[in-house]
Amino acid sequence: MEMKIIKNEVPLTTEFLPDRITGRENEINLINKLMFTSDAQITVLIKGRPGTGKTLLAKFLMKMHPEFNGKYVNCYVSNSDRLILSEIGGKDYWRGGDFQSSSIENIVKQIFQKENRKNLIVLDEVHSLKSSNNKIIYILTRSTELGLPPVKLMLLSIEDPEMFLDKNVLSSINKINQVVLKSYDATQLFEILKSRAELALYEGTYDNEALMKIAELSEASGNARFAIELLRYSAKLAELRDKVLSSDIVLESSKDYIEPIDDSALKYLDEWEVDILITFLNNLNSNRFTTEEIRSIIPGLTEAKMYKWLRDLESSGIINKRKLSSGYGGGVRNEFSLNVQKDYLLNTLYNLKR
Ligand SMILES: Nc1ncnc2c1ncn2[C@@H]1O[C@H](COP(=O)(O)OP(=O)(O)OP(=O)(O)O)[C@@H](O)[C@H]1O
Ligand SMILES: [Mg+2]
Repeated sequence: MEMKIIKNEVPLTTEFLPDRITGRENEINLINKLMFTSDAQITVLIKGRPGTGKTLLAKFLMKMHPEFNGKYVNCYVSNSDRLILSEIGGKDYWRGGDFQSSSIENIVKQIFQKENRKNLIVLDEVHSLKSSNNKIIYILTRSTELGLPPVKLMLLSIEDPEMFLDKNVLSSINKINQVVLKSYDATQLFEILKSRAELALYEGTYDNEALMKIAELSEASGNARFAIELLRYSAKLAELRDKVLSSDIVLESSKDYIEPIDDSALKYLDEWEVDILITFLNNLNSNRFTTEEIRSIIPGLTEAKMYKWLRDLESSGIINKRKLSSGYGGGVRNEFSLNVQKDYLLNTLYNLKR
């Protein structure tokens, strides 16, 4: 008889939105108090490391407040004022309009002018916006001064607002209310894993010990996404081995994941290189990057150091280099790609630093 463990894989995927959030009651209460106890204009920043539940919380709060016209925009995908506004306004809204030639202020007015519209806007990965080129945050935080209804603005980021908002915007926002999501500890990760396992796995095919092992292995990063993916991978490995999901299987699958970047690979890296890599990965939103992205994420890095860092990452097998032609007379540019999954790499690096 073949061992079936996975009943439904969906709850183990990143797109899955659980009905129940584990262990963020205080933060949800705080955000509700800050944002939804009056009709006033307000901006709240939800800050936390990757996998601390920022996106989940924001989507959950949108659902909790159906009286608001809630719009969610990922600023990494929609990384300009116009793209953000076309997400908020909706495609149909602009049929035949003069979207490209209108000023940002006018577009905002057109979208928000409708009376008694209660607006809740979530800008996720908001650190992806280059503050100097974007007015949208400034305008949304001042909607009432433009004669528009108040906008509840939720900004989600892994960074301090000083890192991505410029001084004008920072000073125009009397005070950004900040809610920090702490990285999860093993107990919280265990609770999250338990509720996912109940949805995704057949009863009796896994035990609490296995879930606790995953929680312990994920505690270094405190990243719930990492923990859930390790659960998914372990369940698959158990099926492959035709065994129940035990802590031994978890250990084995975690080794499989972390093997390509084990100590022998990381010996190429000096301590400063590890530190830069951690900052860089925390700010990187894709698997590919160019030197421009390195410069914008780590502005102080000298040319010489950057090339040493890239060489060492290449020798350690963490990244691959590919030449991109940049067209007529442009010579070549390099594009780099990560060989290992970002969260796993980060987890290993955190462990290394402990
Ligand atoms: N408290 C929680 N209860 C249940 N599931 C959670 C909880 N926190 C996070 N998760 C799950 O963990 C995964 C990561 O959470 P989420 O995407 O919200 O993190 P994030 O802070 O937005 O990370 P990133 O900065 O990488 O975007 C998601 O699958 C989410 O559903
Ligand atoms: Mg997110």
